[in-house]
Amino acid sequence: MSSRQRIVVVGGGVIGLSVAWRLAASHEVTLLDPTPAVGASWVAGGMLAPVTESWPGEEDLLDLGSASLESWPAFAEAVGVPLQTEGTIAAALDSADAAVLDMLADHLASRGREVRRLTGPELRAADPALGPSIRSGLIVPGDLAVDTRELLRRLVDLAREAGVAFDPRSAAAVRPGAVVLTDGATLGCDTAVIAAGAWSSALHSALEGLVRPVKGEILRLRVRPGVVPLRHTVRALVESRHVYLVPRPGGELVLGATQYEAGFDDEVIVGGVRDLLVDAERVLPGLAEYGLTECAAGLRAGSLDNLPLLGRLEPGVLVAAGHHRNGLLLAPITAEVVNALVAGEDPPASAAAADPARHARTKR
Ligand code: GLY
Repeated sequence: MSSRQRIVVVGGGVIGLSVAWRLAASHEVTLLDPTPAVGASWVAGGMLAPVTESWPGEEDLLDLGSASLESWPAFAEAVGVPLQTEGTIAAALDSADAAVLDMLADHLASRGREVRRLTGPELRAADPALGPSIRSGLIVPGDLAVDTRELLRRLVDLAREAGVAFDPRSAAAVRPGAVVLTDGATLGCDTAVIAAGAWSSALHSALEGLVRPVKGEILRLRVRPGVVPLRHTVRALVESRHVYLVPRPGGELVLGATQYEAGFDDEVIVGGVRDLLVDAERVLPGLAEYGLTECAAGLRAGSLDNLPLLGRLEPGVLVAAGHHRNGLLLAPITAEVVNALVAGEDPPASAAAADPARHARTKR
């Protein structure tokens, strides 16, 4: 169907907003969310880093993320947000951490990805804010980063300008031809897109058990006068724990993120904050001199295999959820996939593995 459709997008995080904005060029779009542009997207660090987030066995995710990364410069230009292009440093603290990074570098090299292995002193020469405890690491030149909050504000404005109607009601269920609201009303539509992040599973029986909340705490800091600022995004392994540091041009430093299964609990816990600070200070000794501006927690939309669910659940019902650690990164390609499906075209080949049909219980 390529004619103008009535489309309801359920969920106004970075995925729902990107999808709604893209579809509004050709369709009548309603975005359903009582609080758009908050939730996991608002908390996210903004690393666009398929390579340093990759892991052996997750090659489909690496390919999908790399395809989306290629779309990011044009997407960012269209949205009107700058990208940070300094690349990512992956840093290892102890010998076990270094062994993990070596394994990752071998894996990436076998997939034809560009990574440079550096010693601790070489890393400190590349970024003098890094501490002497760093043993070794990798530099990944192609990774990007974006200010998530600036992006979300722009997406809301652009979606409104493109004619997206923001409806503050909540969805209870999605079925062909209608979205059922929590107040009992229904919104008729030709196509519904489930983009409700960690809340997506409850909206359609085919998604039951396929998407779950994965809690993450994150801190926002501000560099103060006299402190040597970090230049690169750093993703570090500190005695087997992960921590990342994303500096922004204005002096903000985003420090993340814990990851644990806590259901829909989104309270910031002292132990999570302590672990982030202790680990990050090993990477960045100047950390104690930063101002602390925010502690927040978000709920990622975890899937069973860490790949998102991008595709058709049944006629007139699409899903774009389960982006887990990669919602920001995968926003452009997700919008492209949904746009292609709505237009009755084939989505990009790199998204084939993300088709929800891979899960036996999913209906088509
Ligand atoms: N992409 C980083 C995170 O989910 O914490």
